[in-house]
Amino acid sequence: MTFSILNLLGGLTLAAASMLPQSWPSVSYKTEPFTSPLLNVTRTGPTAPGLIWFSPAVFFPQQGGPPTSELSPFLVTQEGEVVFHGPNYPASQPDFFANFRPQMFSNGTILSYYLGQFGPSMEQALGNVTFLDSNLMVTNTICLADYPSYIPGGKDYPCKVDLHESRRLSNDRFLVTTHNFTQTDLSAVGGPKDGWVTDSQFLVINPYTEEIYFKWSSLDHLDKLPYFHINSVDEFENGYVISARHFSSVVFIDEHGEVTYRLGGVDGQDFKLDPAATFGYQHDVHARRETDGSIMVTMYDDENYDVPPISEDKRSSALSVRLDTKDMTAKLDRRLFSNDTVQAIGLGSWQDQPNGHVFVGDATFPSMSEFDENNKEVWNMRYGFTGPGSFRAYKFTDWKSTPSYPPKVFAESLQDGSAVVHMSWNGATEVASWRVLAVVGSNATFVDVGTVKKSGFETSYTVNREGVKEVMVMALDADGKHLSTSVAFSL
Ligand SMILES: *[C@@H]1O[C@H](CO)[C@@H](O)[C@H](O)[C@H]1NC(C)=O
Ligand SMILES: *[C@@H]1O[C@H](CO)[C@@H](O)[C@H](O)[C@H]1NC(C)=O
Ligand SMILES: *[C@@H]1O[C@H](CO)[C@@H](O)[C@H](O)[C@H]1NC(C)=O
Ligand SMILES: *[C@@H]1O[C@H](CO)[C@@H](O)[C@H](O)[C@H]1NC(C)=O
Ligand SMILES: *[C@@H]1O[C@H](CO)[C@@H](O)[C@H](O)[C@H]1NC(C)=O
Ligand SMILES: *[C@@H]1O[C@H](CO)[C@@H](O)[C@H](O)[C@H]1NC(C)=O
Repeated sequence: MTFSILNLLGGLTLAAASMLPQSWPSVSYKTEPFTSPLLNVTRTGPTAPGLIWFSPAVFFPQQGGPPTSELSPFLVTQEGEVVFHGPNYPASQPDFFANFRPQMFSNGTILSYYLGQFGPSMEQALGNVTFLDSNLMVTNTICLADYPSYIPGGKDYPCKVDLHESRRLSNDRFLVTTHNFTQTDLSAVGGPKDGWVTDSQFLVINPYTEEIYFKWSSLDHLDKLPYFHINSVDEFENGYVISARHFSSVVFIDEHGEVTYRLGGVDGQDFKLDPAATFGYQHDVHARRETDGSIMVTMYDDENYDVPPISEDKRSSALSVRLDTKDMTAKLDRRLFSNDTVQAIGLGSWQDQPNGHVFVGDATFPSMSEFDENNKEVWNMRYGFTGPGSFRAYKFTDWKSTPSYPPKVFAESLQDGSAVVHMSWNGATEVASWRVLAVVGSNATFVDVGTVKKSGFETSYTVNREGVKEVMVMALDADGKHLSTSVAFSL
């Protein structure tokens, strides 16, 4: 049994500590134990409305990493304020989060994130997808515990969902990627007769019962291709569009799983590829039919990957390519370069906005960007120097959350007799202001001592009265309606 091909592809390079970059500023809070990365926003034009979802993760340890509490799912405003700082995991665990985003089901929108770890190779991960409702309570976990895939190494992974895709499809079906290690004759590709390969698969399931409606296996439908690595799948008409990263290839399949078109990023494969539209090691591929009958393919074109043959440091971009299936041509539509020089070795996303803008996750580079319809970068948010990256980044408008847990409050007395009250409510989207209540002097009851406009994740307010003994805060919405009250804090 050999894992040489897998290990070659997964080649994780560990950097010497001295190579680790300087640390990016962290933001700490009085009301919460975690820290968040500073979110540095540059805005040079109007942007699409919406909140932003992303999940920094250290996929490539050579890039260095912040504290684990900053490797978490984040919901933030486009002004760079944290709205929701998600869970984190102990630093001793190799887990990471990915694909934090809203999923629009017909009975309401939920948030989902992936949590897992790499298996025997960095090819694919093993973990689960968690759903959170609008009270930020966990309502569902997709685990595939009983999925009959084989994972060598003897380690018992509780869940078998891969990191690369977790997506609601039409009719409330849900798509996840998974994989199987399977014994295959690799002599045709210069490997052993009894070699092992990763069979990249995707499943269309009921996310609540895990009933499988459709399974697609790369080994069943393509010739023995050990490097076939699915890193995105989406619906396209009655079938699907798959990104096969190691082949720098986009594969269209029909509803039976049969390949219909292949678009090769280097040689075009079934298409005559415009030299301006070449791509490599791409992520997050989507396709849509345009009114003129052409197919628009959008993606993040990484261009680089850290496995042999290591490419030169090429500049990464967000890319759209127009396919004409009559004359079988593939022409450049848009290529969007961020102002920062991004030379990504993985990850990245392209998301169309309703106003024609494109929201781009800058892959392993710690930033995201928005481009207007004239391809001008109108907004950028940076959250690190050289890492960590976020698998993808998303911007959506329709999300409101009111946590089931209460807001938090913390207060400290100052020498002049006044007290500073700090308040936050992790994940609440509807808070506009805070009412501060306090027990002051000889009065035994809470009295209203002021109202303060919400400002960022944590708001502070100074109570200019002597002898503040206890404080409590009430979260109010834009109409002044009471949402929730914290517990009392004794000074
Ligand atoms: C954030 O952006 C400002 C303005 O561009 C810059 O001066 C500052 O150095 C940036 N902060 C970090 C940590 O890079
Ligand atoms: C939506 O439907 C699913 C499946 O019936 C159910 O489990 C879930 O709780 C529902 N969600 C909401 C928000 O009602
Ligand atoms: C989900 O996956 C994580 C990471 O592997 C694991 O720690 C956790 O126990 C799993 N949760 C469930 C409900 O299976
Ligand atoms: C995994 O591969 C083995 C053969 O090596 C096969 O018996 C098993 O059914 C496969 N599982 C899945 C889920 O494809
Ligand atoms: C990026 O650079 C272009 C060209 O200099 C400029 O017009 C645009 O405003 C810049 N965008 C950001 C977000 O810095
Ligand atoms: C003491 O509390 C009562 C309400 O119980 C309130 O009417 C009064 O103004 C408070 N006094 C001070 C000094 O805050």
